[in-house]
Amino acid sequence: MREIRNIVILTGAGISAESGIDTFRGAGGLWENHRVEDVATPEAFARDPQLVLRFYDMRREAIQTKEPNAAHTALARLDAEWPGELLIVTQNVDDLHERGGARRVLHMHGEHLKAWCTWCDSRHAWSGPLADCPPCPKCEARSLRPDVVWFGEVPYHMDRIYRALREADLFVSIGTSGAVYPAAGFVQNARELGARTLELNLEPSQGSRLFHESRLGPASEVVPAWVDELLAG
Ligand code: OAD
Repeated sequence: MREIRNIVILTGAGISAESGIDTFRGAGGLWENHRVEDVATPEAFARDPQLVLRFYDMRREAIQTKEPNAAHTALARLDAEWPGELLIVTQNVDDLHERGGARRVLHMHGEHLKAWCTWCDSRHAWSGPLADCPPCPKCEARSLRPDVVWFGEVPYHMDRIYRALREADLFVSIGTSGAVYPAAGFVQNARELGARTLELNLEPSQGSRLFHESRLGPASEVVPAWVDELLAG
């Protein structure tokens, strides 16, 4: 086995579940109350912008009441102490990795706490509502939308992510069902390029058999245990 120096970590909704943020699929999952096509596509936004904006306003407000859990803080510790390259690629639009203290984080599906002006293409930190159509702080057009990636749109930072995957000695997937591409394909990409692959999840994900190793359990337990083990060398 080659020495581990460069690490890519993919996280999904499962890492924030114990902070009280609903996952997308499964019992209690977000999409049970709202059909994906009603809230998370450009077509839905064109059809009923108020419904979509209100839905995201509700989510934006909710995440600000949540706190990072032991899995977020363990990854932040790894980020601070790992001497090699490390990249946390999250599909999550919450800010719990950052509030947990992690720095090397990319949000491939965007961020709840940012608004994007589709008129002047500027992005702004945003914690309040968007449903009342506030003006863009830069151009004043009332064309702000949540800066989140909807189905049918291209995820962010893909060049940087694939570059990191090419260099990775270890790819770790945490709390994601493996249902949504391109993130669901990262394990295969990393493995083909020679990385060791590890899954940390509550239950086997859809792509579980693609990993060299799976450790099952709640993120707040399995992630800190794995980080301790890795840092102990
Ligand atoms: P999912 O809801 O599809 O999957 C969450 C995964 O987390 C499942 O495999 C659960 O078993 C696992 N899980 C639940 N609780 C856990 C816990 N306490 N500890 C560890 N694992 C736990 O969420 P994602 O895979 O993140 O995309 O979904 C991927 C994308 O689908 C999202 O980013 C979103 C959604 O549509 C967009 O919005 C573009």
